[in-house]
Amino acid sequence: MSDAEQQADRARAQDDGAQLQEAATGRARHPDADATSDPDDHEAPRRERGKTVHGELANAGHRVLAPDDAEVEAYLETALNAPAPERPAVDRPGGAVPRGEGSRGEPDTVVVLDFGSQYAQLIARRVRELHVYSELLPFDTPWGEIAKRRPRAIILSGGPSSVYEADAPRPDPAVWSAGIPVLGICYGLHLMARELGGDVVSVAKREYGPATITFDGDSPLFAGLGPEQPVWMSHGDSIVAPPPGFGATARTTSTRFAAMADPVRGLYGIQFHPEVGHTPRGRDVLRNFVMGIAGARPTWTPANFIESTIAEIRSRVDAQAHESGGDGLVICALSGGVDSAVAARLVHRAVGDRLTCIYVDHGLMRKKESELLRVTFEQNLGMRLVMVDARTRFLARLAGVTDPESKRRIIGDEFIRVFEEEAAKLGRIDFLTQGTLYPDVIESTTPETKAAQKIKTHHNVGGLPDDLRFTLIEPLRYLFKDEVRLVGLELGLPEAMVFRQPFPGPGLAIRIIGEVTAERLDTLREADWIVIDEIKAAGLYRSLWQSFAILTPVRSVGVMGDGRTYANVVAIRAVNSEDGMTADWAKLPYDVLGTISSRIVNEVPGVNRVVYDISSKPPATIEWE
Ligand code: XMP
Repeated sequence: MSDAEQQADRARAQDDGAQLQEAATGRARHPDADATSDPDDHEAPRRERGKTVHGELANAGHRVLAPDDAEVEAYLETALNAPAPERPAVDRPGGAVPRGEGSRGEPDTVVVLDFGSQYAQLIARRVRELHVYSELLPFDTPWGEIAKRRPRAIILSGGPSSVYEADAPRPDPAVWSAGIPVLGICYGLHLMARELGGDVVSVAKREYGPATITFDGDSPLFAGLGPEQPVWMSHGDSIVAPPPGFGATARTTSTRFAAMADPVRGLYGIQFHPEVGHTPRGRDVLRNFVMGIAGARPTWTPANFIESTIAEIRSRVDAQAHESGGDGLVICALSGGVDSAVAARLVHRAVGDRLTCIYVDHGLMRKKESELLRVTFEQNLGMRLVMVDARTRFLARLAGVTDPESKRRIIGDEFIRVFEEEAAKLGRIDFLTQGTLYPDVIESTTPETKAAQKIKTHHNVGGLPDDLRFTLIEPLRYLFKDEVRLVGLELGLPEAMVFRQPFPGPGLAIRIIGEVTAERLDTLREADWIVIDEIKAAGLYRSLWQSFAILTPVRSVGVMGDGRTYANVVAIRAVNSEDGMTADWAKLPYDVLGTISSRIVNEVPGVNRVVYDISSKPPATIEWE
């Protein structure tokens, strides 16, 4: 195992620790359930992305629902008047690399068909943790499209429907007869039973939560698992008669057919969820299927990804430069976030000094962040970095502004101006690098999730000539966030950058309530530094979605030494979240809060009181503005 993988394993162990804690306190949620659902429900409907439990836009009309650095990247995209990305018909990693002797080319692929389980993505992520590339496709993807991926195996996810409903989602029937191993999970199992001639009924007693499964026979799917295993169940339907050719391979006290298989046709179905942490050996079941039964090779590793991505970028840039007679210059906006950092590093490895990165220091970053970026990219990695010191102009435009939306608009506007000026100095640019991630690619159908779209409606793009056409390079478009981090570590980026919590594009400006001034920025930066420092010291940084300080407009009376003070109140915010759409305030240990509080009042001039924000989202938001 490489260092990068070991580190990621440690991070995962932390995540698993949080899950175990949840389980111990009985607060665990079923992975297919949404935040508001009754835990006894049969698989709950997928939560609508971007909506609160009240059905309103979770972004309240202004939040960016994308990776934390999407906003800054979108400013550059806007400044350059870049076109929307054009993606190839079959968009796969390594697809552009010639296949041949010694070339790794395309990785072995497992296609996951999504039948509406909120956590279908989790199946794909679990398969990828086995180092096998996995792609999530809609349940009704035509066989021709699936076949283009040359899958080694197909997994059918769970879902909220019942197979005997008239409009129950079904896959292309070629799935059953293509000779490719298929694993049906929960609803996927029921589909397999029903479509192939078995019988599925609704049962009076729903099975939800932990169960013990007993294996019958020696199915290769359960190799090495012993006679029994704890698993996680969630179903209101059960198989009463398997289809011809199938035999039962596992049972529980409430169902005779907790798993079934027709090994001759390579068809396997399981009632439980192997993808969730509550099925401790679920990973082994997936490994048995993907690598044992389907024989997929574990070639999806950070090192292979880096190698094939670099080759792909290089050949694209060279080919286009050759065709157009240009130099193949590439530009990238750095925000300080992990996605743009990893994307930039990959492109640099591919095209060297033809890449120029632009970082706008708007003065709204946290302590030491801009310096880390400069040292990493310019000093250590020797990359071409244009670092624009725009602190004074941003402060000047923000003077006297207190309305949160005006702050956002001004910052976006100023960013775009700076980018236009800098890009104009670089000459002809052919490519624009974006840190788009896999979840954005598969979910980019809703326009409000695209930062660029929104930003473009706000700004009149000017500066550069209209006839300039850029091509987008999106080297991370096949990766989940945790994979981006692994790749970042493998590329030698510092941990502080790779594991950075999300940070909004407008930076500290929306964490200073009221007017943003140089002095108030200094106060907040010092307080925020202490929060991060203590959260890291307590080993909590990676398990929290975000943790930070807010400078409130409130002054309160205090006493210090012999005298009274009348000084600023700082608020602390720490939340747990999966995607920023909803969030729970974190139950930070009192001693951590205590240390943060006393350090802030002792070390940060002008602050005499610290409060902790115990609101969840909704109804509060994560940021205060
Ligand atoms: P809220 O405050 O809406 O935040 O609960 C949800 C997530 O979005 C981030 N956020 C922003 N990111 N520009 C950004 O790039 C913004 O204007 C912005 N406002 C909020 C926030 O940090 C959280 O992760």
